[in-house]
Amino acid sequence: MKALLQTNFSDLVLYARGKVRDIYLAGEHLLLVATDRISAFDHVLGSGIPDKGKILTQMSLFWFDFLEEIVPNHLISARVEDYPEAMQPYREQLEGRSMLVKRAQMFPVECVVRGYLAGSGWKDYLATGKVCGIPIAPGLREGEELPEPIFTPASKSLHGKHDENISFDHMIELVGAEDAERLRALSLAIYRRAAEHANDQGLLLADTKFEFGTTAEGIVLADEVLTPDSSRYWDREGYRPGQAQPSFDKQFVRDYLESIHWNKQAPAPALPDDVVEQTRRKYLQAFEALAVKGKAVQTVNR
Ligand SMILES: Nc1ncnc2c1ncn2[C@@H]1O[C@H](COP(=O)(O)OP(=O)(O)O)[C@@H](O)[C@H]1O
Ligand SMILES: [Mg+2]
Repeated sequence: MKALLQTNFSDLVLYARGKVRDIYLAGEHLLLVATDRISAFDHVLGSGIPDKGKILTQMSLFWFDFLEEIVPNHLISARVEDYPEAMQPYREQLEGRSMLVKRAQMFPVECVVRGYLAGSGWKDYLATGKVCGIPIAPGLREGEELPEPIFTPASKSLHGKHDENISFDHMIELVGAEDAERLRALSLAIYRRAAEHANDQGLLLADTKFEFGTTAEGIVLADEVLTPDSSRYWDREGYRPGQAQPSFDKQFVRDYLESIHWNKQAPAPALPDDVVEQTRRKYLQAFEALAVKGKAVQTVNR
């Protein structure tokens, strides 16, 4: 089993290469290709996770469909046969891991929703009693569910810098009051619906990040949605508030990187085979729990 670390479609115009996705121009649209790259501590690691790009793409497709009644999205098609002629030679690499999408004017804000106290939210709460300026009831423990899900936007980092949490007032300065209110309401509505579904399938959706953009038809949900790369999922069974919860997807990777005392500077190390395999299982497990039930996906080899 081999990981696809990078695509090189020489007849297409590369629009951007993100940490995980390679993006090509497709006339007025964009072709998003999810590779098997994996990042940790803001670095792309030396090894990929075979099929990760397919798993993430299929999960996003599931959620776009699931959420269609709440929010329109950027998807045009994920069937390679619908793509422009120029893309057909690359069909083998595109199958299962790509989407033709409407090119959107992206809002320069990451729309984060948190339902539980974790990560930077927990650190902020410990230091200030608030999360991103939002006052929270005192006495909560690490990993505890918040009384209400909260919207905590972040500025979109450019050039691989850390995303920075911003206040809602700052978001208003960036996108205007009307769109800021709209994106907050949409994000909270999507979170609630998705967390309910995840919970039914035995997973807690601790927090997640959405990216929205505008097209001729108005605001659309873009990028990837509710994947383990953009979201913190926890296993409901193993959930123990009062401590850090194991990260559903990247725990093995993080543990390994800590064990070798990597200094978190480039170049990032490669991963041993067993860490790759265990991580692949976790991505598959989340996918199967959330999306597969009743909907077989043939593109991913178990
Ligand atoms: N419909 C769209 N139109 C324009 N840009 C988009 C669209 N959907 C996603 N993007 C952008 O494509 C990039 C996806 O690649 P990714 O590997 O996730 O990058 P990053 O390292 O920035 O997370 C993101 O920068 C995202 O904002
Ligand atoms: Mg991304």
